[in-house]
Amino acid sequence: MMASHKHDDSVSVVGILGSGVIGASWASLFLARGMQVDLFDAAPDVAATTNAFIRRAWPQLRELDLVETGLDIEDALARLTICDTAAAAVYRARFVQESVPERMPVKHAIYAEIEPVLRPDAVVSTSSSGLLLGDMQQGWKDPSRFILGHPFNPPHLIPLVELLGNEKTSDGVLEFAAAFYERCGKETIFVRKEVPAHVANRLQAAVWREAIHLVAEGVASVGDVDKAMRAGPGLRWSVMGPHMLFSLGSGGLGLDGFCARYGDSFHTWWDSLGSPRLTPEIAAMLADGVADEEAGRSFEELVEERDRKLIAAITAMKDI
Ligand SMILES: NC(=O)c1ccc[n+]([C@@H]2O[C@H](COP(=O)([O-])OP(=O)(O)OC[C@H]3O[C@@H](n4cnc5c(N)ncnc54)[C@H](O)[C@@H]3O)[C@@H](O)[C@H]2O)c1
Repeated sequence: MMASHKHDDSVSVVGILGSGVIGASWASLFLARGMQVDLFDAAPDVAATTNAFIRRAWPQLRELDLVETGLDIEDALARLTICDTAAAAVYRARFVQESVPERMPVKHAIYAEIEPVLRPDAVVSTSSSGLLLGDMQQGWKDPSRFILGHPFNPPHLIPLVELLGNEKTSDGVLEFAAAFYERCGKETIFVRKEVPAHVANRLQAAVWREAIHLVAEGVASVGDVDKAMRAGPGLRWSVMGPHMLFSLGSGGLGLDGFCARYGDSFHTWWDSLGSPRLTPEIAAMLADGVADEEAGRSFEELVEERDRKLIAAITAMKDI
């Protein structure tokens, strides 16, 4: 069972709780990194669905150079154990990634089940997108080694993981988790204060709100708003973030120089931004626009196109 673990000497076994969209993707990544994965999911067909996911993800992980040298898919699948209980999936794991449904009673029930059997040095990280850490901690007697490690879908492709602990978190736990994720090829950030939706989803929500407003007000079609984002700021933002880009936009004056020059414009623009609601009418208008944008391409074709382009972009930028 012992893998080479040249990327991380301290984690050889990872526990996975929940193997849906997010958990199966995490499992694929951890297997590619040469770890043993002990996995529990309440669904009866978990073995078949997880296997199918890993087989689909494997060539993508290989393209991203995330598969440990010499490892093939059959070796990896031999390191996957589907367990009958949550406790069985975690008792020997140094790191546990929890990705069960986004409902507090489900999270609390599984924490109560695993806490008595965890190794004393185990770190448990939840993928939760929207629940507050403080509320999830109430499912623990001792939450000091329980943190948030929020990925972006799909976790085996998108590098970002957002990390959050609080005053109840033991010293060094977040840093341990950051080092672990980084050895798995991830890029981590520390969320310093608890707010709904962490950092990246708030940024997405802010941009999408205005994108919807532009469509609803008839300023541009859904397809043109998407094109404006993809061919303009989205492309730049995948290279550098907004602060750095505007600093460069100052022509060498720095971000404070940029603010002095363009601050009034931004204040006027911010004052005119919209606050739409996702009413059935707006949702239908957006769906119609997406149908035009799809131009007959199937769901599967579009997912394949998204993943192919993402992998190409990530791979190209790794070499620069
Ligand atoms: N989908 C996303 O884009 C996304 C992105 C980042 C984080 N997340 C977070 O990841 C978590 C999982 O989301 P998802 O999209 O994978 O959901 P999902 O519904 O696809 O998967 C949840 C899995 O948990 C299983 N399950 C249900 N009850 C269980 C239990 N008691 N014990 C073990 N397994 C159980 C289900 O059978 C299912 O396979 C959520 O907290 C969500 O907020 C989701």
